[in-house]
Amino acid sequence: MPTKVRKAVFPVGGLGTRFLPATKAMPKEMLPVVDKPLIQYAVEEARDAGIEEFIFVTGRGKSIIEDHFDRSYELESVLQERQKDSLLQELHASVPKAGTIAYIRQQEPLGLGHAVWCAKRLVGDEPFAVILADDLILADTPCLAQMTAMREEKGGGNMLAVMEVPKEHTSRYGILSPGKETGNLIEINGLVEKPAPEAAPSNLAVIGRYILEPGIFGLLENQSRGAGNEIQLTDALSSLLGGDPFYGLKFDGTRYDCGDKIGFLEANIAFALNRDDMKGDMGDIVKKIANKL
Ligand code: G1P
Repeated sequence: MPTKVRKAVFPVGGLGTRFLPATKAMPKEMLPVVDKPLIQYAVEEARDAGIEEFIFVTGRGKSIIEDHFDRSYELESVLQERQKDSLLQELHASVPKAGTIAYIRQQEPLGLGHAVWCAKRLVGDEPFAVILADDLILADTPCLAQMTAMREEKGGGNMLAVMEVPKEHTSRYGILSPGKETGNLIEINGLVEKPAPEAAPSNLAVIGRYILEPGIFGLLENQSRGAGNEIQLTDALSSLLGGDPFYGLKFDGTRYDCGDKIGFLEANIAFALNRDDMKGDMGDIVKKIANKL
């Protein structure tokens, strides 16, 4: 059984209700931050962490994501004619190699746990990553690569990305009950999905990056509905505690909640300021607007 994390699951079946009307006909994962859709950032982060197979759990109205990760011959021939070589190369590089990308449909919106369970056969009996594309992370070393490196150091097990959130926001996240903390690594003693602030065991929230052992599939299979009447990944993970080692990694980097309008706008500014070709102009714009406030 391989211990290296070779496969990543991208749940992209969600309805994106927090971002209507933009997401009425367009998947939220296709919202661009600067010039790249969220889902492409997620795939690139996976690739940077050594992922070789990309499994998308999609839903109705999401087929544009499949087109995005496919060759586009009309476009390519026009770019070729116009000698736009670097653009052409960039487009090529964004398409995963033939045979490494798979799509499976989540036929009903039953929650994140159910979406992950839908990938069971494609993942098989090996550890895998889960990336939620609307959690966009700006970091020197991509978040998933930080996690795979730390997991290798620990010799395997489950690992979740975590960060501190304001206590009043605990009801938006999976929240962990922390055990021993060593540097930025936290042993997890318990997990609860979207607790009210007064019931939250801490202010350490799970962010949309997971590395999971395949044992989770058996638990998801029988998982009853939890918060929001959905099958929650957090609930199944909480039943997994006590088995394989289970860690939270306080990653280095800044996370932007791009499923939320304000978080998305902030991400666009931060990512533009982080780009050499834009930071000058973007910096001037931000200053100009700030001066008017
Ligand atoms: C999901 C998970 C939650 C996690 C969050 C991170 O919630 O269920 O545990 O903290 O992603 O973004 P959602 O945002 O899909 O409601």
